[in-house]
Amino acid sequence: MKDITPPQLAELIRQSRRVVALTGAGISVESGIPDFRSKGGLWERFDPWEYATIQAFEKNPAKVWVMLKEMDEILRHARPNPAHYALAELEARGHLMSVITQNVDNLHQAAGSQNIIEYHGNAHRFVCLTCRGHWPRAALDFDQTPLYCYCGGLIKPDVVFFGEAIPEAALYKANDLVINCDLLLIIGTSAEVAPANILPEVAKNNGAIIVESNLAHTRLSLYLSDYFLQGPAGRMWPLVLEQLKQITTQ
Ligand code: APR
Repeated sequence: MKDITPPQLAELIRQSRRVVALTGAGISVESGIPDFRSKGGLWERFDPWEYATIQAFEKNPAKVWVMLKEMDEILRHARPNPAHYALAELEARGHLMSVITQNVDNLHQAAGSQNIIEYHGNAHRFVCLTCRGHWPRAALDFDQTPLYCYCGGLIKPDVVFFGEAIPEAALYKANDLVINCDLLLIIGTSAEVAPANILPEVAKNNGAIIVESNLAHTRLSLYLSDYFLQGPAGRMWPLVLEQLKQITTQ
């Protein structure tokens, strides 16, 4: 794997035809949302086996809602950062086909990206585990958690807990995108969680060039990534966009 600079990456994106981004919690850290596995991350404070599995939620929803309410408070105040806006503009300029995001924070949507695959769902939506009915956030009283549907079922954020399946449409669309892309931009993910962490391998096996954008190397850096863009996403991606604007308007 080689380091790549923003100008070099801008040129690589300019030459590519089918560019896809795969994002993780790291792209939202500069929006004030802690990631999961870095120092001070969410899983340092909440054991995922006690707070992030569907079994834990069904067994003790009141306990899991302690974490969910803390996350909801953080998400309500979070705004897109320059990395989210840079990806939205890359898409608008025709240089990015889609964002496959593991994040449930709705920040790519808020930044204006149009073609987004919500691989782990979206925390701004709520769903009943029994009748699968959707609930608007405004109809829910977070002082009365756990929350129950008219049918008696448990209501939860429409996000994928450990032990739940990836939404089928997201699974297939994401797979189709990485099979057919010629450049995969992996931004702010440790690639620790399946099946999202299989997508880079599918892309690579189908001939795509793999670029990782992160603060530090990950497991992918050891055997899969072709290039590494070192630095915080909120600083690096506006630089890539600026360079791309310069070389495509010359
Ligand atoms: N810029 C770029 N990368 C960053 C930044 C930043 N400012 N801050 C942190 N990172 C990197 C970290 O170095 C790490 O590699 O982002 C990555 C975050 O990794 P995780 O915390 O494991 O988050 P993620 O990969 O998204 O987790 C995947 O695991 O717990 C589940 O469902 C949850 O979607 C999540 C999935």
